[in-house]
Amino acid sequence: MILDEFKNAADALRQDGPAQVAAAGSLDAWTEVRTALVGRTSGRLSDLMSALGTLPKEDRREAGLLANAVKQELEALLDARRAELAREQQKGPAIDRTMPGRATWQGTVHPVSLVIDEVIDIFRELGFTIALGPEAEQPWYNFGALNFPADHPAMDLHDTLYLEGDLLLRTHTSPVQVRTLQQYMPPIRILAPGNVYRADPFDASHAPMFAQIEGLVVDEGITFADLKATLTRFANRFFGETKTRFRPSFFPFTEPSAEMDVRCGVCKGSGCPVCKDSGWVEILGSGMVHPSVLENAGIDSEKYTGWAFGMGPARTALSRYGIPDIRILYDSDVRFLEQFAR
Ligand code: PHE
Repeated sequence: MILDEFKNAADALRQDGPAQVAAAGSLDAWTEVRTALVGRTSGRLSDLMSALGTLPKEDRREAGLLANAVKQELEALLDARRAELAREQQKGPAIDRTMPGRATWQGTVHPVSLVIDEVIDIFRELGFTIALGPEAEQPWYNFGALNFPADHPAMDLHDTLYLEGDLLLRTHTSPVQVRTLQQYMPPIRILAPGNVYRADPFDASHAPMFAQIEGLVVDEGITFADLKATLTRFANRFFGETKTRFRPSFFPFTEPSAEMDVRCGVCKGSGCPVCKDSGWVEILGSGMVHPSVLENAGIDSEKYTGWAFGMGPARTALSRYGIPDIRILYDSDVRFLEQFAR
């Protein structure tokens, strides 16, 4: 080889080397380009170096300097490109970590469930446990065992849907009293929350399906004083210091029966639309378990007595949260429900 040929080869490498380095789009491609250009045994630079020895002696110094200069240029470019590629790989996709997160709706507990949970918590402190019964119930549990004589007018208030297989949609949670008494021996202290159904209109204070919470206590020596004391204590825990009032009432399965009112939380008794100017809000029905109910469930009514109550947590939620219409509790309107987020 003569010096001019050597210079041409070195210039060619100087010409297209930088473009190849710039075109390396990944670290793998970069490694290939480096091997092709300056690889020790097979690259174009090493070919040039081997050609050095074929030049006339007096040209070797100039040619060697030239080859070294090309080598340094290429290696500087290769180093820079490699650093660039490494930086790009580290960067990942473009994310602004300081950007505020998008707000998400987490959901809240429904106001009726809030009331149920709180009632259960208060009675749990008094030793009550939870019992559940079926919503599709046998007529005997819903009526017969609870001392409703056939065709009794009290059943008018409990009109409901009758299902195939001699079942009905239960009209109250009281059937759970009988099921519990059949299954367990006294002492019994249970709460039975659940949904019930009635042929009621859907208006501001009625719904054809609603929740109830039943309470039942049966043991030796239980009296009306236990009923009053327990329910009054519950009212004071649930509503804060308040006054209660028991009014005589009627249920076929309790005797005597009483409805419990509490002082209206909105007007404190002076009269307002929530309490219809009476100063009192009805909270629950209650009474001493009728001896026939105990006997129907196989419990000795000479030995045991008990009391029971039933309350509607939706109505309680209305007066507690000042909600004017029961239907809004069934609407699943997030703008309404999220106000109860805890
Ligand atoms: N089951 C009755 C009702 O739905 C309420 C009640 C329960 C009354 C227990 C007395 C005792 O109206």
